[in-house]
Amino acid sequence: MSDHVYNLLKKHHSVRSFKKEPISEEHIKQLVEAGQSASTSSYLQTYSIIGVQDPEIKEDLKEVSGQPYVVENGYLFVFVMDYYRHSIINEESKSNMETSFESAEGLLVGTIDATLVAQNIAATAEDMGYGIVYLGSLRNDIERVREVLNLPEHTFPLFGMALGVPEDDEGGSPKPRLPFEHVFHQDRYNTDKEQQRETLKLYDQTVSEYYKARTNGERSETWSNQIANFMSSKQRLDMLEQLNKAGFIRK
Ligand SMILES: Cc1cc2nc3c(=O)[nH]c(=O)nc-3n(C[C@H](O)[C@H](O)[C@H](O)COP(=O)(O)O)c2cc1C
Repeated sequence: MSDHVYNLLKKHHSVRSFKKEPISEEHIKQLVEAGQSASTSSYLQTYSIIGVQDPEIKEDLKEVSGQPYVVENGYLFVFVMDYYRHSIINEESKSNMETSFESAEGLLVGTIDATLVAQNIAATAEDMGYGIVYLGSLRNDIERVREVLNLPEHTFPLFGMALGVPEDDEGGSPKPRLPFEHVFHQDRYNTDKEQQRETLKLYDQTVSEYYKARTNGERSETWSNQIANFMSSKQRLDMLEQLNKAGFIRK
């Protein structure tokens, strides 16, 4: 058995600093094709990928995200949940499909499909020697992203991905993950809170040491600190409204 894929995936870390080298059209095509090979729920293929090269559009998207690497990269993808083509089939076939794509299940299906496609692209890009970073920050202003990318009803921008040749000094490294036993449950979910607390404590130490080593002691926060700060800062609370406007979660 080859351990190539395993080793590739274990090396992953997000890259946020890229050389000014564009990615060739051939590579972009291969990446999109690799994405398209992902499984999709019931063969529905409820996604589209927008490849953004136009500097003005990139600049607009950078304003939404607030992150410089939305412009400074080799290429930019935006992953879209897409039921537009399904709505065309609905009109043509005079079916009654709205209930499916406007339901909560429709939202899950579209999100899962697009994410599997994106992760195929991420792994293939890393295998080609590129670095990648996902961009949930595009959801900071859904209306603007919809307008800039000309997204019709029954589509929704989920996240972006910047990619390119990593800068020599990009300095990233794989972040320690939760322990295997913490995320993997044998047969049934392990609800033992004490055990979960103990594992979290050890993991917090590991993460804190990781940050100390990476930042010469400037950062030392634990994973629990980070999670508590992030999850108590209420962000993007307009998502249901934005989904409704785009034609989702109406049933
Ligand atoms: C859906 C998604 C959205 C993300 N959005 C952003 C983002 O907007 N900006 C950013 O710098 N990193 C973003 N990230 C990267 C995460 O911060 C990163 O994956 C996480 O900290 C783990 O680090 P690693 O990828 O280096 O292992 C995103 C990741 C995912 C999966």
